[in-house]
Amino acid sequence: MLQAPRGTRDFTPEEMEKRRCIERAMARSFHSFGYGEIQTPTFENLELFTAKSGDSIVDEIYAFTDKGGRQLALRPELTAPVIRCYVERLQMEPKPLKLYYFGNCYRYDRPQKGRYREFQQAGCEFIGADTPEATAELLACAFMLLKNVGVQHIQMNIGNLTLVNRLFAHFKLEKPAQKTLLPLIDKSLFDDLQLALRDCGLPEQAANQFLRLLQTTSLTEIKEFFHKDEVAAPELATMETVLGLLSDAFHVTEYEIKLGIVRGLDYYQGIVFEIDAPVLGAEKQLCGGGSYDLVSLFGGTAVPTAGFAIGFDRTILALEAEGYTFPKPVLDVYVIPVNEAMVPTTITIAQQLRKEGIGVDFDQLRRGIGKSLRYAAARNARKVIIVGPKEMEQQSVTLRDMKTGVQEILPIVKIPSALKLS
Ligand code: HAM
Repeated sequence: MLQAPRGTRDFTPEEMEKRRCIERAMARSFHSFGYGEIQTPTFENLELFTAKSGDSIVDEIYAFTDKGGRQLALRPELTAPVIRCYVERLQMEPKPLKLYYFGNCYRYDRPQKGRYREFQQAGCEFIGADTPEATAELLACAFMLLKNVGVQHIQMNIGNLTLVNRLFAHFKLEKPAQKTLLPLIDKSLFDDLQLALRDCGLPEQAANQFLRLLQTTSLTEIKEFFHKDEVAAPELATMETVLGLLSDAFHVTEYEIKLGIVRGLDYYQGIVFEIDAPVLGAEKQLCGGGSYDLVSLFGGTAVPTAGFAIGFDRTILALEAEGYTFPKPVLDVYVIPVNEAMVPTTITIAQQLRKEGIGVDFDQLRRGIGKSLRYAAARNARKVIIVGPKEMEQQSVTLRDMKTGVQEILPIVKIPSALKLS
């Protein structure tokens, strides 16, 4: 039997109903924050993704050569494509420019629950403002978007790569050491990190202090450590303003500071953040984002950029795990001709209702009223119209409410209003 490729999934109408319902809620949230939708191609020139991350990223993505010999890649994420589009077409737009997107992404990941090779992201890029209120709004937007779609338990962790770089500088950990340490920090592998710090020649006491600063959620402790640092101190002051606005003005208070949030992608700088849904266990990260620089790398005029992306599939998994009640696919009305002679009239009625924007299907298997009613129930039809010769003599039909089982005889002309009212 032929199967879908490893790490990919099909979505049935029932699953699509769930996904579309959540997608609509997310789109409403993005609009409420003033974002406009953008769409970019599913594949891009490979160079777009290697420009910042280097050739090693090729191992993690779907890269290929097309028939014309072009080096291409299925997008592993949408930040680089959106910024490419901004540089190519949108630089003259008034700033700030707020763009949101839904899109499939492709990564050569090891598939497991919540981790796929084809998955969907819902994300946004905020171009042209990096005031504390812009950053605070970005954080609030990510948090509130997940809350608005109905995820109940989420935890936001906020880090800062400028501060992490100051930590590296303080402990004299140079670039090659950072390359080994950052993936361990990103994955919170603190035991391995301790060993790696020893290998880098860091004395035990310094290593312990480094580890503590990465894990503490106390801003005071971080401030005490950095109070004489000319780069870190002002960065911390700005961060405090951002956090103040986040809690006092946007009323988002469920967050923690964690310098251990360093993000896996290479383009970040300054404030970064992640939102977890603990209910998901191992693959609990629902959202990741922060400020970054790609515009100048892609040949544009430097401008502040920040954004985030939500794992759409994981959001659905989190809602399911929390027992969220998703809507089921419903059919507004199912029309049943009592016999073959009633088929043309059935079609006419169906077509009239469709013109009114009502969702209609009719029995095309000529299988009689009993079986057709069972089929209508299986399709979750709200109403059934039975077209019989006797009622048709008065230009009427039988309208049945599938929930109550109540039936009434109704003139054909009154069907649309009766269906819209109920
Ligand atoms: P990311 O953290 O790599 O960030 O991905 C964002 C989210 O996509 C993750 O938090 C996770 O929920 C979901 N995700 C990632 N990989 C998979 C996978 N294999 N299967 C299922 N879900 C997955 C970015 O992609 C950045 N572009 C976010 C961003 C936007 N930063 C600034 N702007």
